[in-house]
Amino acid sequence: MYIIAVSHQKGGVAKTTTTLSLGACFAERNQRTLLIDLDPQGSLTSGLGLSPAEMTRSASDVLMGLEPLSSVVRETELPNLSIVPSNADMIMAAQCLQSLARYEYKLKDSLTDPALSPYDIVLLDCGPSLGALTIAALTASDMAIIPTQCEYFSLQALNSTFELVRAVRAKTNTRIKFRLLVTMFDLRGKLHSQTLAYIQQHFSAAILQTIIGFDSKLRESQVAGKPITAYAHGSRGALQYRQLAEELLTYVQRPVPQAA
Ligand SMILES: Nc1ncnc2c1ncn2[C@@H]1O[C@H](COP(=O)(O)OP(=O)(O)O)[C@@H](O)[C@H]1O
Ligand SMILES: [Mg+2]
Repeated sequence: MYIIAVSHQKGGVAKTTTTLSLGACFAERNQRTLLIDLDPQGSLTSGLGLSPAEMTRSASDVLMGLEPLSSVVRETELPNLSIVPSNADMIMAAQCLQSLARYEYKLKDSLTDPALSPYDIVLLDCGPSLGALTIAALTASDMAIIPTQCEYFSLQALNSTFELVRAVRAKTNTRIKFRLLVTMFDLRGKLHSQTLAYIQQHFSAAILQTIIGFDSKLRESQVAGKPITAYAHGSRGALQYRQLAEELLTYVQRPVPQAA
């Protein structure tokens, strides 16, 4: 089981879009995939057409030790794709988690539930925070994907996420690697191209080769409650996320060198 957290301290950088689209592409490739919604806002849950308010159980029950992970998993309409939803209880969970002993390991430990179906890949959609929930997600993960836009303020915000990954690596999870994913890239924008060149120069060992361009179909699919592969099968966004899944599968199948 290979575990990937999609994390960034900022909101609106495509964490949820990446988790959902990538998950659907892994599932398409016959990888048994589990998505876990760790954001109290529940956008991943609603991105799959489920209403967070109607979810009687959520990832919060697992983090609080009330339910085993297996009892909170839901199948989706897509083969090979399951989800652990979020609901409003996650707000409390995010606040209380830190007061629990060994809270950093709560998610990691829950993934060893013997009743859990076997999954090849688990994707964790983190909320825009560097708090206890994100620390628990990073502690459980083999890799953190950090989506970023090619803009000055996005680059500035990367540092605190990098620092958190390094702190987690030093304290609770020596095996974690991180990879940057450039998203919402505008080919026509000169500034985007310049910033991309800067990123490629400064983070060469840590950047994913696949770049996700701007595609309004991704936005529409989120509103429609479907992954991009189901909403617009042949769209540019779907093709690029398939390419990303392919790139990551080579990582999943053999060890990756640690970058930075
Ligand atoms: N490649 C893209 N092209 C166009 N819009 C995108 C793209 N990726 C994400 N979006 C849109 O940007 C907004 C923020 O994305 P989201 O995944 O919810 O970010 P986060 O989870 O980091 O807060 C959403 O409306 C989403 O549909
Ligand atoms: Mg999100």
